[in-house]
Amino acid sequence: MSHIVAPSILSADFGNLQADCEFVNASAADWFHVDIMDGVFVPNISFGFPVLKAIQKHATKPLDVHLMIVEPDKFVQQFAQHGASVITVHYEACQHLHRSIQLIRSTGAKPGVALNPHTPVHLLTDIITDVDLVCLMSVNPGFGGQQFIENTYQKVTTLKEMIVRKSSAALIEIDGGVTLDNYQKLLQCGADVLVAGNTVFNAANRFEMVKTLKQN
Ligand code: DX5
Ligand code: ZN
Repeated sequence: MSHIVAPSILSADFGNLQADCEFVNASAADWFHVDIMDGVFVPNISFGFPVLKAIQKHATKPLDVHLMIVEPDKFVQQFAQHGASVITVHYEACQHLHRSIQLIRSTGAKPGVALNPHTPVHLLTDIITDVDLVCLMSVNPGFGGQQFIENTYQKVTTLKEMIVRKSSAALIEIDGGVTLDNYQKLLQCGADVLVAGNTVFNAANRFEMVKTLKQN
């Protein structure tokens, strides 16, 4: 399977969200990456259900919803009803991660777990066969346009080894600071999904940028 490119809507023009959704639809991108921030788990607030509803209305590709919120279980059902194909919760925000993962799966969405840059990959040993995606944060979550943390490469390699060893089907997603300078090395280390906000939406030619990120 070739890798997935997921433009992050956080970097879109919210004054013309329909146009930016239509750009993603028409581009070579595979998914929409949708960042939900609550101002508690992360030091920023992004948007909630009314905006997600607008995205759902215009998007023709799967919605990959990244929950940077505390107590995500409270809202999982609602995110599924708003068309989320993938729902990713943070390891650091879940008291009972296994329960959260089962809850997501019960809605029909694919469950994912995200790790902050400081959280070691080995903590996923006993959950790796239950998740469909692991999101490795390659910046501290909260904002688009930050600089990529180099330590991510070795986390991808370690996670890939674990996934192979445990015969897990989980995809490895990289989120934050993905650019033309690092995406190929990330793919070589084992990444399956590249999230890109700033790199796609601020490109001179956004269609070409997505096409390039789709190449190996
Ligand atoms: C950061 C978000 C990312 C962000 C990525 O907290 O989870 O998805 O939108 O943006 P870039 O690609 O600009 O770093
Ligand atoms: Zn994200």
